Amino acid sequence: MATIEFPDVLFGTSTSAYQIEGAYNEDGKTFSILDTAYHGKQTSNGAAGRSNGYLKTAAAYVPKTKVNQANSCPVPKNNDNGDIACDSYHKIEEDVSNLKDLGVQVYRFSISWTRIFPGGSDKANPLGINYYKKLIEQLKAEKITPMVTLYHWDLPQELQDIGGWANEEIIENFLVYCRLVFGTFGDDVKYWITLNEPRMVANGYGGCSLPPKLGDQCSGIEDYKAMRNLLLAHAKAYRLYEKEFKEKQQGEVTLCIDAAWVFPFEKNSDDKYAAELCLQSTVGVFIQPLITGQFPQIVLDSIEKTNRETNRKTKRLIQFNEDEKKLLTGSYDYIGFNYYFSWRVSALSENDITPETPLKTIDQGYITKKTLPTDIVEGFTKLVDWMNEQFKVSSKSGSHKFFICENGTPTNNYEDKVNYHQGIFEEMYKAIKNNINIFGYCVWSFMDSFEWGSGYEPKYGIYEVDFNDEKRTRTKKPFFGYFKKLFQTKKLTIKGKI
Ligand code: NOJ
Repeated sequence: MATIEFPDVLFGTSTSAYQIEGAYNEDGKTFSILDTAYHGKQTSNGAAGRSNGYLKTAAAYVPKTKVNQANSCPVPKNNDNGDIACDSYHKIEEDVSNLKDLGVQVYRFSISWTRIFPGGSDKANPLGINYYKKLIEQLKAEKITPMVTLYHWDLPQELQDIGGWANEEIIENFLVYCRLVFGTFGDDVKYWITLNEPRMVANGYGGCSLPPKLGDQCSGIEDYKAMRNLLLAHAKAYRLYEKEFKEKQQGEVTLCIDAAWVFPFEKNSDDKYAAELCLQSTVGVFIQPLITGQFPQIVLDSIEKTNRETNRKTKRLIQFNEDEKKLLTGSYDYIGFNYYFSWRVSALSENDITPETPLKTIDQGYITKKTLPTDIVEGFTKLVDWMNEQFKVSSKSGSHKFFICENGTPTNNYEDKVNYHQGIFEEMYKAIKNNINIFGYCVWSFMDSFEWGSGYEPKYGIYEVDFNDEKRTRTKKPFFGYFKKLFQTKKLTIKGKI
């Protein structure tokens, strides 16, 4: 047995607005693309939710287009939705008291754009603003540092109606929203995340994974436009903060990528190339623009190759121009990432391609394979080392730092949960000892919540939520004590030596 310590790490938990807040149409809030996609379906927990007296007002805005229904994308498991979710909109006191009980130093949550600017307009909604003011005040009173995500996937439906993230006009709307949020909450918020998992956002414009679920027919086209616009939106928001708020507020801004390491399935050169292309197409496309202002060459080359082979003349993924490069290069104060697992891939062969194969799948050239149980821990280490090397080259001040904004596994089983996290904590300790600056770590998630296409089935929470109970009662799970001890002492007992 040995003890490892993390004296300089901020520990906490993460959530996002749509996944926990509920109150989908209260106090002036209008529909986001998430409400459009999920609301109105018969919910498995609807009865308990609907009788609680909260759902008084009808949504002010009825979307004109329900783009997600124009294709064959499946609806979420059990037709669940986030209409009520954990009802956190009505439970600030209870949530903050539960966080305090857990001993966290930091709490990461997101702001719902359509609570602040109903209808995506530029007329701010004081009731929506008050909810977050109160939450931040109460966190501060308990000495919990708020870490705020501006965009965790809930685009105002009106902005989707004009093309969403695939239309560069959206960037100006995002900046109006960011300016108000920085200006209103910035004295009390020192850690900002502009966008959560931009890769997942972009995927919604060329597949079915997330709203707006444009489907495979837009793959390799609309998703690339979205990816480019998301990066520019982030960089412009970063520069806005730098110019108008940083001096006074002294906060730090980043974007949060979803990062997985990629192992080649076989040790042959085709699979090795596929693994490199996959890593660069999923992680590289979001970090290299922050470092050099450019997309990775291997990704651009691969798109060119698909174009040649399919007789396409258009570029599809457009490199950034000189002004855009300047905006992007160095647009981070720290590097935020989410880590859950790693992938094993083999090369996509000609035989794997059919007329239905999405264009982006051909560009990216890999098929995912079954992973090994050791991949999660080993992949974490490889990923952190690799990202560290990438950022080392370019760090503005010669130093750069990482915040793990989400890490978790969906299980209520004590052994499984603790083993998963213990493996990551040990690797994180080694990385810190090797001078990689990881200054924060948040468990996903604070409590069970709406898990997108999987409904309420995956149980990521440290607190259990009873979704069949109108009160959405929260209960500590058996591993609560494991996390509390770590968060409070910043020490962990491990088997054997490090
Ligand atoms: C990452 C996303 O940011 C979060 O919304 C989601 O619930 C978790 N992954 C777990 O699936």
